[in-house]
Formats: sequence, C-alpha cells, structure tokens
Amino acid sequence: MISIKSKADIAAMQRAGEIVRDLLLLMEEKVKPGVTTRELDRIAYEFIIARKAAPSFLHYNGYPATICASVNEMVVHGIPGKYRLCEGDIISIDVGAVIDGFHADAARTFGVGTVSAEKQRLMDVTKQCFFDALAVCREGNRLSDIARAVQTLAEKNGYGVVRALTGHGIGKQMHEDPQVANFVTGGQGLRLRAGMAIAIEPMINQGTWQVRFLDDGWSVLTMDGKPSAHYENTVIITEGEPIVTTL
Ligand code: MF3
Ligand code: CO
Repeated sequence: MISIKSKADIAAMQRAGEIVRDLLLLMEEKVKPGVTTRELDRIAYEFIIARKAAPSFLHYNGYPATICASVNEMVVHGIPGKYRLCEGDIISIDVGAVIDGFHADAARTFGVGTVSAEKQRLMDVTKQCFFDALAVCREGNRLSDIARAVQTLAEKNGYGVVRALTGHGIGKQMHEDPQVANFVTGGQGLRLRAGMAIAIEPMINQGTWQVRFLDDGWSVLTMDGKPSAHYENTVIITEGEPIVTTL
C-alpha cells in the first residue's frame, strides 16, 4: 500500500530530512585518512540523539549500527568497524533518522583525501544519476521514468546499475511501497502522485552490475571487485517541483 502524505506529514518528513542532511555534511568533514568507520558511526549516533531524533537503521532487522559505511568495492550495507580509511578510498555513508514518527533516508559517497580520476568520475556520474531521476519526479510521470533516467546515464558512461537492490517508498516506515528500481523492467510502473514519498538511490558500479553478499548477512560487494558509488535522497512528489527533504 502506498501512503499519501498530508501537509503535516510532509512537515515532519522535512524535519527528519534536515537532520540527515546536516549529519551527512558533518560526515563529509570527518571523512579523512586514519578515521575508522566505527568512529564515524559513533559521531552519527551522537548527532542524531542530540537533535532529538532516533537512528532509523539501528536494530532494523537486527542491523547493528547507525550508518552504513561501504568502502570501495562495497556497494551498500557495510557495517562500521575497525577499518581505518586510507587516502584514495571512496566511502558511501548511508543514514536514516526518524522524528515525530517520520523517516528520512539519504546517502553520499565521499573521496578520502585525493582519489583517482576514475573514482571521481564514478562518484560524479552516480550523483548526476540521482538528479536526472529527480528531473522526472513530476505528478503523472511513472516509476519507469525514474528507472530509465538512472540507467541511461549510468550505462552511457559504461557503468553497471545494481539490480539486487532498489529505492523505496518512505514515511512512517523507512521502507514502504513502492520499490523504486534504478533499471527498466519492462512494465511502465506506477504513476507518481502528489504526496508520495520515495527514496531514490542509484547504486552504480564501475564494472559489472553483478554483486555478491558477505556472510555477515549485510555487506553487498561488487562481483568483480571494482568500486561502487551510492547517492540517495528522500523525495516528496508534489503538484509542482518535488521536495527533496535531505538536501
Ligand atoms: N538506507 C538503506 C536503504 O536505503 C537501508 C539500510 S539497511 C539497514 O534502504 F538495515 F541498515 F537499515
Ligand atoms: Co534507502
């Protein structure tokens, strides 16, 4: 079932979004060679609590942390730990927060120090995939328009679009209907309607689209070991311009 958000719901979603947006800006400052992903997770937890919100991911289906920290060939859902970031790594940080009953969910991929031109281009194109998708987030358009926008730009650049995971509806639950795929599946998909809220999250691989799962039950890696980037925001469809709560 797809929930349609009221004005009051949207206001709460924007409050959640501001917290996630501000936290990701803080994460960008803290991402440096030598910092561990566990230290980043601790900072994120404290930040969310200080803003009187709660972390959406912590304990979700048993997930043990506030952020997902996915380095280089890790696509998503990396569990923070003792790994120290190295110059030249890229790290995707994904985080959600809930306040007044509504969630926000967003992710960015950051370079650690100076990164290769190849990795930089992967991050830039992944971010642009989101903005190409956002450009078609208009009432009356379809989910397939979002999928096509992401897939077209990614594949034009020679990249692989992850298929094992998708974006999702969001609101009172972090994951609601509908699924928001980054690749075209054949059908036209649902029509977008004012009041729908979706997390759009291109996951783009430098090489093959294929992924594998670690036996920690979470970590998703590229099959070929090449790097992957992730960029996500929470978007609300309106009668006019979409609202991006996490920007
Ligand atoms: N943010 C992820 C998503 O976009 C969810 C992370 S899974 C969790 O769907 F368990 F860590 F919450
Ligand atoms: Co999400």
